[in-house]
Amino acid sequence: MKILVTGGTGYIGSHTIVELLKAGFDVCTIDNFDNSYPSVLENLNKITGTQIEFDEVDIRDKAALKKYFQSKSGIDAVIHFAANKAVGESVALPLKYYENNVGGTINLLEAMQEAGINNIVFSSSCTVYGEANPPVDEYTAILPATSPYGNTKQICEEILMDQTRASDIKVVSLRYFNPVGAHESALIGELPIGVPNNLVPFITQTAIGKREFLTVFGNDYPTPDGTCIRDYIHVVDLAIAHVAAINYLANKKYRDAFSVFNLGTGNGNSVLEVIQTFEAVTGEKLAYKIGGRRAGDVVQIYASCDKALKELGWKTERSLEECMRSSWKWEQHLQSMGNK
Ligand code: UD1
Repeated sequence: MKILVTGGTGYIGSHTIVELLKAGFDVCTIDNFDNSYPSVLENLNKITGTQIEFDEVDIRDKAALKKYFQSKSGIDAVIHFAANKAVGESVALPLKYYENNVGGTINLLEAMQEAGINNIVFSSSCTVYGEANPPVDEYTAILPATSPYGNTKQICEEILMDQTRASDIKVVSLRYFNPVGAHESALIGELPIGVPNNLVPFITQTAIGKREFLTVFGNDYPTPDGTCIRDYIHVVDLAIAHVAAINYLANKKYRDAFSVFNLGTGNGNSVLEVIQTFEAVTGEKLAYKIGGRRAGDVVQIYASCDKALKELGWKTERSLEECMRSSWKWEQHLQSMGNK
């Protein structure tokens, strides 16, 4: 089977390409390098020993996307990562998010329909649940989004659901909890542009000296140590789930044309636990201060992953320790490369 990966030079896309090739799939990929770099392709070539089939295509450009599909034959399924994901930026620039995340998805669906491609795996987020009682399963009610970014994920799921009613398309929507970690080779990982918003890149950048200290956003939450709880999932485990989702579609294991799965570990860890784990596995002492709460943060969320285990035959295998170890190795690699 041949899989088109949109956003293939991004954080999760790049790791997924590695796992798809490992599992024997043919892969082609597109990206517009809006939030990634061409060097990722060279590193993917090194890891996989395969020349990655790549074209620079912007999914906002409907004509270019359609032309791309016309020029490629044999694509059986699409894994759609190409999107913007910074919550704060989405509040400041909502139109950018609606144009790229929603408009881009519509363009992609049109191009797929024209090309007769009926299988898609979509990158969704646990953000669709808002504040819910963990462990959160897939039947948990979806709450009004608290950011334009979150809203784009909800809208795209609705569009995909509508499209399953109007066509032969089959959809697997994967709701990620908190992806962290990097490939064991340290050749690919998360490449935040500017000051990172997310916890783990901020931790590694602080430890390496790029940031003076980490601010823990609030220690007065109703949790055992007062800091927020999240479900941190290793990006390689997450990537492997996409292979499982493709097999699920290929083997027609679904009951409904639109299927949704939570992807997490099933465990919650507090911000302080993440810091302690980082310090324990790396031997680095992290400079951090307790600050005020960050607007929009939910107190605690972690996944129920029973459905993914039962139907996709997938569960995580990598620990929080492994997440921290690989994130640190990646940060050190970036430094050794002059952060290029
Ligand atoms: C955020 C988004 C989520 C999105 C994901 C993408 C919100 C509310 N959620 O998840 O929708 O899919 O990013 O990557 O923005 N923290 C600190 N100090 C920091 C950074 C973070 O204490 O400098 C804490 C946060 O308060 C939170 C935890 O670390 O409790 C994780 O934060 P983060 O990595 O930003 O992820 P989420 O907010 O869970």
